[in-house]
Amino acid sequence: MTEPLLSVSNLSKSYHPGHPVIENVTFSIGKGECLGLVGESGSGKSTIVRCLLQMQQDSGDVQFQSNDLHRLKGSALRRARQNIQVVFQDASEALNPKLKILDSLMEPYDVMRRKLFHRKERREKAIELLRMVKLPPSVLDAYPHQLSGGMRQRVTIARAISTNPSLLLLDEPTSSLDVSVQASILNLLKDLQEKHGYSYLFISHDLSAVAFMSDRIMVMKNGSLVDSFKKTELFRPNRNTYTKELLSVYES
Ligand SMILES: Nc1ncnc2c1ncn2[C@@H]1O[C@H](COP(=O)(O)OP(=O)(O)OP(=O)(O)O)[C@@H](O)[C@H]1O
Ligand SMILES: [Mg+2]
Repeated sequence: MTEPLLSVSNLSKSYHPGHPVIENVTFSIGKGECLGLVGESGSGKSTIVRCLLQMQQDSGDVQFQSNDLHRLKGSALRRARQNIQVVFQDASEALNPKLKILDSLMEPYDVMRRKLFHRKERREKAIELLRMVKLPPSVLDAYPHQLSGGMRQRVTIARAISTNPSLLLLDEPTSSLDVSVQASILNLLKDLQEKHGYSYLFISHDLSAVAFMSDRIMVMKNGSLVDSFKKTELFRPNRNTYTKELLSVYES
C-alpha cells in the first residue's frame, strides 16, 4: 500500500475528566480516497475535525504527508494548513454576511498569496473558482443572503479548493440543504474529486450519502469507531450490530 496522506492514531479528547468525547480513534486516508464517517448526533464526528484542524486532542498522533502535524512550525505549518481545508454544514455561518462573495471566496487565497496580486487577477481567479463549482460570475458581487442555500454551499466549496488542497474535511456539507439540492452538491463534490484527485473525509449522519460518496466507511458510536470497512462490504452479514441498525433505517 502507498503511504497514506493522513494517518491518525489513538486520538482521544475529553472536556470533563473521565468522560471522553472521542477515545482511541485510529484511521488513515489514502491519496484520492474518500473515507466516510457516519454516526449519530453527538457521537464525536466534528470533534475529530476540530482535533485535525486545531490539534485539540488530549493524546494521539496525526501524520499528514508523513509529517507530524504537532511538530510543524512556521512556513511548513502554513503549507500544511493550506493543504487541509474544511467545509461545514452551515454555509450561512461560514460566510461573513457583510462581505461580498468575492471577498469571502478569496480569503484563504489572499492569505496564501499575501494579497500580492492585482485586482483584475484576483477577480479572474475568483471567476475560475466559481466556474469549478458551476456558479456564474455574477455571484461575485452578491452578499450571502442574496444566494440560495445550495449556492452558498457551492461558494464555501470553491473557497475550500482555492488553495489547491490535498485533503478536504467535509463535515455534514449537505445536512442543512433541501433534499433536492443535496444530491447536486454530492455530485459536485464527486466530480471535483475525480478531476483534481482530492482526498475527502466525508462526515454525515446519513448512511446513504456516506455510501454514495465513500470508498471506505467508518461507523462511530459514543466516541469510538465501532466498524470500518470497504463500501462494497456494507451489506456483509458480519457487520457490527450498530452498523446493521443504521442500515435498517437506510433500507426502510
Ligand atoms: N466545547 C465543548 N465542551 C463540552 N462538550 C463539548 C464541546 N464540544 C463538543 N462537546 C460534546 O462532545 C460530544 C461530541 O460532539 P460532536 O460535535 O463531535 O458530535 P457530532 O458527532 O459532530 O454531532 P452532530 O452530528 O450533531 O454534528 C457532544 O456530546 C458534545 O456535546
Ligand atoms: Mg458535528
